[in-house]
Amino acid sequence: MQKQWWHGKVAYQIYPKSFKDSNGDGIGDLRGIIEKLPYLHELGIEILWISPIYKSPFVDQGYDIADYQAIDPLFGSMADFDELLAKAKELNIAVIMDLVVNHCSSEHEWFKKACADPSCEEASYFYFREGKDGKAPNNLRANFGGSVWDKVPGQDNLYYCHFFAKEQPDLNWFNPKLRQRIYDMMNWWFEKGVAGFRVDAIMCIGKDPSFPMYPADALGDGMCACGVMNAEHNDVAEKFLQEMQDNTFRKHQAFSVGEVFGLQKDNTEKFIGDHGCFSTIFDFAAREALSTKPAYFAFEKLSVAQYRAVTFKAQELTNDCGFLAPVIENHDEPRGVSTWLPEMWQNARGAKALGTVNLMLRGIPFVFQGQEIGMTNTRFGSIYEFDDLQSKEEYRRCLDHGLSEETALRVLNDQARDNARTPMLWDDSRFAGFSTEVPWMKVHQDYKTLNVKAQIDDPNSVFSHYKALIALKKNPAYHETLTYGRFEALDDPNEHTLAFLRKGDGQTLLVAANFGLKEVAFKAPEGSRMLIKSGEASLENGEVHVAEGSSVVVELTK
Ligand code: GLC
Ligand code: CA
Repeated sequence: MQKQWWHGKVAYQIYPKSFKDSNGDGIGDLRGIIEKLPYLHELGIEILWISPIYKSPFVDQGYDIADYQAIDPLFGSMADFDELLAKAKELNIAVIMDLVVNHCSSEHEWFKKACADPSCEEASYFYFREGKDGKAPNNLRANFGGSVWDKVPGQDNLYYCHFFAKEQPDLNWFNPKLRQRIYDMMNWWFEKGVAGFRVDAIMCIGKDPSFPMYPADALGDGMCACGVMNAEHNDVAEKFLQEMQDNTFRKHQAFSVGEVFGLQKDNTEKFIGDHGCFSTIFDFAAREALSTKPAYFAFEKLSVAQYRAVTFKAQELTNDCGFLAPVIENHDEPRGVSTWLPEMWQNARGAKALGTVNLMLRGIPFVFQGQEIGMTNTRFGSIYEFDDLQSKEEYRRCLDHGLSEETALRVLNDQARDNARTPMLWDDSRFAGFSTEVPWMKVHQDYKTLNVKAQIDDPNSVFSHYKALIALKKNPAYHETLTYGRFEALDDPNEHTLAFLRKGDGQTLLVAANFGLKEVAFKAPEGSRMLIKSGEASLENGEVHVAEGSSVVVELTK
C-alpha cells in the first residue's frame, strides 16, 4: 500500500450550525469554529471536516448549494474562512469541505437559467425529461419521499429529476461541460488550501439516463426507491469518480472520503484501493444492518453481537486493501451511544468503551462533534421541536400508516437526524455556552452536567478517554501498529463483547470492550502492559480482566 499523509490521523466532523455561535444569533458560525480550534487541537484532531458552509437556502441544511464558491453570510465571510484555514494550518489541522455535487439547490443560478429557458446550455446540466401519458417520466421514489420528478416551473409536460428534496435538482453527470465546471470549482478550493473533500451522496450519480420504469417495492405506493437504480449503475459512478480523481484530488494529493454504502469484497479495490475512487469511505456497515426494513418506523435495534458481526466483517474486508473510516455517528444519525449500546450502557461508561473500539479499529476514524463528551439523544417533546425535513416527512408517513402521534414521536426520538444536530454542549451556562441567545435547535436536556467544561480537566471523563486514545494512536511506539497493523477478531466470550487484535511488525495489541453484565477475561502473557483502560479492568497472572461496561488496550508480550 502506498503511504499517504492522512494515514494514522483522527478526523472530526463539525456540523457548523450547531458547533459554536460567535455573534449571538443562535446559529453556529466560522468565527465560532476558529475560537474552538485550540480545543480540537487539544483533543488531538488532525483532519477537520466541516459540513456545508456554502451559500444556501437551507432547505436541507446546506446540502442544497446555491453558490459553490461563496460562504453563506449566516456563517461569516470568505475572509473568515481564509483565517480559519490559516489558523488550522498553524495547529497542523487539515480542513476538508463537503462536496455536494449529485445535486445543487433550486436557487442555484444554473437551475434558475435552466427553468427560464429549457433550451439554454444550463438546462443540459440537469435531467429535464418529458412526462409520459400525463405522468412523470418514471416511478422512482426520492430519498426524502414522493416522486423524484417535479414539473419545471411554467412547463406543462417537462420534468426535472431530484433524488432528494424537490429543492435539490440533480446534476447531469453525463454532460462533460458540467463535470469540468465541478472539477474547476474543486481545484479552486484546493488552490485556497483546502486539503480535501467529504463526497456527499455521490453514488446517486450512477444513473440510467433513459429512466426506465422499475418494479414497485414493498411500500405500496407503486414506486421504487431511487437507490435501486443507483445500485444497478455503480459502474457509471465509478467511471466519473475516476475522472474526478485524475482531474482534482490526485493533482493536489488531496484527501477524499466518500459517503458510500454497500461495501463488498468485489468493490473494495475499486473504492479504496491504491487507485480507487476515494482515499477512504465511511464504514456504514452497522447503519446498513439497522436499515434493512423498507419503512423508517419499522427499525429494530441491533444486538451487541450483531453490531460486532457487521463491524468486524467490514474490518476483515479491508485488511488487505485500503482503509475504512470508522464512525459511531454523524449528522444523519441519532447519537451512537443511544443507538448501538444496550440501555444500561447508554452513559459515560458505555461511551468510553465504544470509543475504545472505534478509535482502535483499523482505519481513519471520524469523531462527530459531541461524541467525545458522550452526548446521547436529545429528548424531543413534540413534533414542533424537530427541524429536519426528513423527520417531518417520516412523522407524516407514520401517521398515514395509522401510528398514533405518541408512537410517531417515539420513532422520531429514536431515529431522527435532529438528534445529532442539537447544539454542542460547552458549559453549564444558559444555552450550554453555545450561544448567548436562544439557539436554532433545542439544547440537550443534560447540559448542566454533560458538557465540555465539566470534562476537560477530569481524568475520568469521556473527553479525557478520547484524548488518551488519540494520543496512543499518535505515540511513535504504537503508531505503525495502530495505523497499518492487521485486524484480527477474537472470540466473543459473552455475546456482548467486542475484542480484537491489532498486529504490527513484532507488536500485538489487544483491544476489548465489554457491554455485557459480567466480567470477561483474556489471556495476556506475563509482561504484557495495560496501555489504556476505561471502567474497571486489571492485568494479573497472565490474564486481563475486563469488568462489565469497561474496555482495555493491552500490549501483549511476544
Ligand atoms: C447526504 C447528507 C445528508 C443530505 C443528503 C442530501 O446523505 O449527509 O445530510 O440530506 O446527502 O444531500
Ligand atoms: Ca452566529
